[in-house]
Amino acid sequence: MIKLDNRLKAILKEIDNVEVVADIGCDHGKLIVSAILSQKAKKGIAVDISNESLKKAQILASEYDVIDKLIFLNGDGFLPIKDNIDIAVISGMGAREIVKILAQKDIANKYILVPHQDTYILRQYLRENSFFVIKDYIVKEQKFYPVIVAEKGNNNYTDREIYLGKNLPSTPVYNEWKNLRFKTIKKIIEKAGINAISNDLKKEWEELN
Ligand SMILES: C[S@@+](CC[C@H](N)C(=O)[O-])C[C@H]1O[C@@H](n2cnc3c(N)ncnc32)[C@H](O)[C@@H]1O
Repeated sequence: MIKLDNRLKAILKEIDNVEVVADIGCDHGKLIVSAILSQKAKKGIAVDISNESLKKAQILASEYDVIDKLIFLNGDGFLPIKDNIDIAVISGMGAREIVKILAQKDIANKYILVPHQDTYILRQYLRENSFFVIKDYIVKEQKFYPVIVAEKGNNNYTDREIYLGKNLPSTPVYNEWKNLRFKTIKKIIEKAGINAISNDLKKEWEELN
């Protein structure tokens, strides 16, 4: 088996024995190859906008002898995928890029989304575009990352959750993440002044207090 960090382990856990999973921005290919090896998906679609990245995934798939279960597509987000799939994973990008990809087409029964910054922008998009959020929790892998699992349906984010997430299911690292956000924003405000920060950071600060 491939050694996965906590973030990729959490994503793999959310893939629940499906026919087809797509990994958008697959890069190293560790997740999509692990999904096949662990039999959590029968087939995989590995997409990357960079041909160099896609090649890395192809090499890994060959090393682990699962190349016949995978399709490799070079392109932007969902655009190269023609048919509907069970699960789409988009991880390791900023929320703005993830939103851009989600807006391309409704392609999957379930979405596993792991942005590395500006998560409130993704949550706002999910609220405005009718996604029901099944899970939204934090994992720690040196930094903190939100893992958001969603499907089309009535949205269930409150204003507070747009900034602080749902902590669903509840994890011990959630409070650690919240304390760090509190300290980080406090420092920014002390340095720049409350009027110099963006409205969204102000709202997050209000929710943290
Ligand atoms: C930081 S890596 C993340 C790799 C992996 N998903 C993870 O979470 O560890 C981001 C990858 O996404 C790819 N990427 C960025 N924007 C993309 C897009 N619009 N469509 C497909 N791939 C994209 C990049 O080329 C890069 O390989």
